[in-house]
Amino acid sequence: MPAILSYTKNFYLMEDNEIAEIYKDKIIFYNNNLEEVKKQPKLIDLDASSIEKNGYDDFMLKEINEQTLSVRETIGFKLDNPKVYIENLDFNKEYLSSLNKIYIVACGTAMHAGLATSNTFEKLCKIPTLVDIASEFRYKNPLIDDKTLCIFISQSGETADTIAALKLAKSKGSKTLAISNVIGSSITREADVFIYTHAGPEIAVASTKAYTSQLVLLNILAIHFAEILESSSLNLLNSLKQDILLLPEKIEETLKQSENVKEISKQLYKEKDIFFLGRGIDYSVALEASLKLKEISYIHSEAYASGELKHGPIALIEDGIKVISILTDEDLVAKSVSNIQEVITRGAKTIVVTNQDIDKKIFDYVIKIPKTNKLLSPILSVIPLQLLAYYISKQKGLDVDKPRNLAKSVTVE
Ligand code: G6P
Repeated sequence: MPAILSYTKNFYLMEDNEIAEIYKDKIIFYNNNLEEVKKQPKLIDLDASSIEKNGYDDFMLKEINEQTLSVRETIGFKLDNPKVYIENLDFNKEYLSSLNKIYIVACGTAMHAGLATSNTFEKLCKIPTLVDIASEFRYKNPLIDDKTLCIFISQSGETADTIAALKLAKSKGSKTLAISNVIGSSITREADVFIYTHAGPEIAVASTKAYTSQLVLLNILAIHFAEILESSSLNLLNSLKQDILLLPEKIEETLKQSENVKEISKQLYKEKDIFFLGRGIDYSVALEASLKLKEISYIHSEAYASGELKHGPIALIEDGIKVISILTDEDLVAKSVSNIQEVITRGAKTIVVTNQDIDKKIFDYVIKIPKTNKLLSPILSVIPLQLLAYYISKQKGLDVDKPRNLAKSVTVE
């Protein structure tokens, strides 16, 4: 849609295997059996300026900086009345209490959004929550049934593996909920219910603002389910809601680290390998940060759960290697610092993203971000790491928005 948005806002949405015969002044649609089908155009209310660079060098930098707004738009009024945004299905107490598990399925960055929030569903709703890669899920005969709620996340809503995984879940009787950023996208049409993220069009191949919006939305959904289930204290849920409302201004604050991150990027862009470490929710951010770096800088990177360091990767730590750690969970900070000390002893140079009051002298670089509830911390901690990937790619003179061999949406297997 963004490609022709400056010409029209009226779109005909075609289903799989449909055919369109296009004339100068009319279009005729046919189904698979070549029977004519009538379609009404859908008004897609997107602003053409939202797909301009608006003075930024690249879409990715624009989209990173737009996160204050995209998160605010995604929150909208959903905390007051989430039902308005979940079409068609009443998630009542009887249904939610009958669930044996929640399955979150997606690809790439969207899958990382699932990893960063699965624990939130378990903690708030007390429902076991699994996360899987769509291309794995669809071929492994997953143990799901009508007591499983399957959530599919896709920025574009067109990823072939995610859509196939959704169809499989439906065929096994599970309820399917799609989260997408694109109005009318295929996944929203296939799912029993859908919710939009409202991040605005994302043009750069590397996903940034869609990821943080997915995180916000999944947290809001978990709170909504917990309220229906009465599975968490109102105090906890209300304080989380307050923290969600404060996110846009904290993102604004986090973005002020941009110059600091740019300076750090100058020390990193010639590296061949970079390691990312984190525990718990910080590990999910390490995975996402490592993906961002690979995608646009072509630097090989690995993300490890800090506790796994001793089970292999520590063998690769040698003098001068760069290790980036994320430390936002106060309960785990002491353990993670001790892991970082292990790599320092072996000569690593360390960069830390944290909201904790730690002894800065131990590390080579510290990127300080605002405090928030630890379930929400990825929404802030990922931002400097998106910027780091961006500036490293720029230092290397690469095409940030269109990295080689990658596509924004992968509509084939
Ligand atoms: C492609 C993109 C990634 C994205 C993934 C899933 O690989 O390059 O940035 O995370 O697809 O896309 P989706 O649209 O389903 O979120």
